[in-house]
Amino acid sequence: MKSIISYPNRGKWGNSSYRGNCSGHVIKDILEHFYPNSQPKRFIEVFSGGGTGEAVAKELGYKNSLHLDLNNGFNCLADEIPFGSDFVFSHPPYWDIIAYEKQRNFYNPDDLSNVMSYEEFISKLDKVNAKIYQSLLNGGRHAFLVGDVRKKGKYYSIIKDMTWFGDLESHIIKSQHNTFSENKTYSKYNFIPIVHEHLLVFKKNQVWKVDLKRTVTQSFDLRNFNKITWRDLIQGAVEWLGGKATLEQVYKVIEGSNKAVKNNHWKEKIRQTLQLHDNFVSFERGVWQLQHN
Ligand SMILES: C[S@@+](CC[C@H](N)C(=O)[O-])C[C@H]1O[C@@H](n2cnc3c(N)ncnc32)[C@H](O)[C@@H]1O
Repeated sequence: MKSIISYPNRGKWGNSSYRGNCSGHVIKDILEHFYPNSQPKRFIEVFSGGGTGEAVAKELGYKNSLHLDLNNGFNCLADEIPFGSDFVFSHPPYWDIIAYEKQRNFYNPDDLSNVMSYEEFISKLDKVNAKIYQSLLNGGRHAFLVGDVRKKGKYYSIIKDMTWFGDLESHIIKSQHNTFSENKTYSKYNFIPIVHEHLLVFKKNQVWKVDLKRTVTQSFDLRNFNKITWRDLIQGAVEWLGGKATLEQVYKVIEGSNKAVKNNHWKEKIRQTLQLHDNFVSFERGVWQLQHN
């Protein structure tokens, strides 16, 4: 196995019409990579969906694997993982992109694919990933497959936003084939279509100590940055003011910024930058705009 994988043909394992199913090659190859001449003590699959992992386990001759999903009565938010194991594969819903309620024909309030905010989805996914990590035997692995999502023009990277438990051992990019969106024609095709998924392999290397990693988003006003240039500040001010601005308007927007506070001659500096920088042009006396070519 290498860090990019692609299986144009998903193979014979599991139910190929189960929405969002994955190729059995992914599960087979990762298991054979870590257990080339043996078997895991126990292989557990969470979010087993249409039975892909179960068919792979059967083919590999595993006798004690477990395949858990709401559709066979296991709720990963409410229920305990029934056994400790050295290898867990999980393939959660990609937020609410596919409504598994329809696939199953019954609603469950804990279905991770229910309509919910992205924040709620991530917080539930974190709970499941914590539970999986806790259940691992020392030295065990959690192989986690998920895709990115684009919704209403916004890009969501689930692997970036979720909490990471344990040591990342591998990050594998999987090409996506035969997706629903692949066959859809978009009226405004001005974005880069997502045609990959991520397979992350986390390893538990210590019994008690665990490193958690999570991304934090902090919002700042660029005007509070010390290292921003006068050019950047004025460009921002002109854009903020609708693309055209008088000197007085630019002063007002930049007044109070860290750079202005630290410079007694900040107004002179603004005038000098406007005059000297070919980023800015003036077609009317005292009115400035951005040069675009
Ligand atoms: C992406 S699919 C898995 C597909 C599977 N790998 C396959 O090849 O068929 C995600 C699965 O998560 C299940 N699921 C969603 N919420 C769950 C929960 N709270 N507990 C257990 N399973 C859940 C859905 O029923 C669905 O089958």
